Amino acid sequence: MTPKIQSVRGMNDILPDEAEFWERFEETIRSWLRSYAYRPIRLPIVEPTPLFKRAIGEVTDIVEKEMYSFIDSLNGEPLTLRPEGTAGCVRAVIQHNLIAQQPQRLYYMGQMFRHERPQKGRYRQFYQVGVEALGFPGPDIDAEQILMGARLWDDLGLDGIALQLNTLGQPAERARHRSDLISYFEQHSEMLDDDGRRRLYSNPLRILDSKNPALQELILGAPQLIDQLGAESLAHFEGVQQVLRDAGQPFEINPRLVRGLDYYNLTVFEWVSDRLGAQGTVCAGGRYDGLVQQLGGKPAPACGFAMGVERLIALIREAGGEAGAEPVDVYVVHQGQAASRLAARVAEGLRDQGIDVLFHCGGGSFKSQMKKADASGASFAVIIGDDEANAGEVTLKPLRPTGEQPNEQKRVSVDSVADEIMSSILDWEES
Ligand code: HAM
Repeated sequence: MTPKIQSVRGMNDILPDEAEFWERFEETIRSWLRSYAYRPIRLPIVEPTPLFKRAIGEVTDIVEKEMYSFIDSLNGEPLTLRPEGTAGCVRAVIQHNLIAQQPQRLYYMGQMFRHERPQKGRYRQFYQVGVEALGFPGPDIDAEQILMGARLWDDLGLDGIALQLNTLGQPAERARHRSDLISYFEQHSEMLDDDGRRRLYSNPLRILDSKNPALQELILGAPQLIDQLGAESLAHFEGVQQVLRDAGQPFEINPRLVRGLDYYNLTVFEWVSDRLGAQGTVCAGGRYDGLVQQLGGKPAPACGFAMGVERLIALIREAGGEAGAEPVDVYVVHQGQAASRLAARVAEGLRDQGIDVLFHCGGGSFKSQMKKADASGASFAVIIGDDEANAGEVTLKPLRPTGEQPNEQKRVSVDSVADEIMSSILDWEES
């Protein structure tokens, strides 16, 4: 037998039941984004590799070991499947001069690729909804973006998602903190693990993010950035917190929240659920005021976040969200040549009126077609045999009678079938 070809490890098919659920999720997302005046931007999945190296940072897990990078065999260009969306979004904003006239609120949805070890909630191809605001310097937009998250959890019927907040200050403040950290870890170098020793001089901040239990005590005693922050950075951080407090949004300040990408400054935040096991962060982001200039644009402040769609969908399911297929309104059953031709016309006519129709394909007896109509969950069967075709009529059979609605079929003219169905649907919706 010919061996079957399987999907790539960590890259999942989203089958129809699941995909319908995703579509409903995406509808909620789009209307939520519209309510905050964010506009869509669609970006390539493949970008030049140097974009990510420059934006995310050479000494990060993503760039060091997780990127799907390859050389374009036709022109030798180094390319990478995007591991995240911010770098590409900023590239596009610069390339098309989008913030010359006015600040932009943008969003994108789509696949990202990271060569991580697959496990529950962590995949090699995963989907993000990303939100970026460019050209806004004040803490008001940081806070608005954080509160957007809170509203979305509410719209999705999710609770128990906690907000963690931190500030990374400005580069000069971080540089001072960095040298404090290096001296501290040098003094305790015998306690560091291999990763820690490797990062001691290249990226000591990332040691604070280590999950190694043996390092936790050392990390707890490490110098804190907040002690190096100047008045402006402190005021920005306080500004964000003030809006959150005014909105009644609880948060925890987590000085160890440093994020795995190097482009951040000032505000960083993560929304974390305790119901997803180890991969509990459903949404994360912060301010990245230096990135536009770093990628060749005129300096412009910016702030954004991204959500992991698989993780959010898992939470919605865990909270009892229903997947189930959305049934069609009408299943069209037909037999005989003239009847089938009329049935195809009737189906299109119903769709013209906005009625969802499943047109039976593949023949079979009336009995077997009716079984399929019942199983489809449709509200009505429209049945057309030679008899009906000759009379220019259809048989309309309600399949899910409710209340006083009798389960009786009736003959109606082809011209009135759409009205009959619409008025029954309206009656049901009212009852
Ligand atoms: P990130 O923290 O790397 O940030 O990813 C954001 C979210 O994507 C995570 O919180 C998680 O929910 C989801 N995610 C990340 N990796 C995986 C994975 N392997 N499998 C499943 N889900 C995953 C960024 O990507 C930044 N671009 C966010 C941002 C936008 N910052 C500013 N603007």
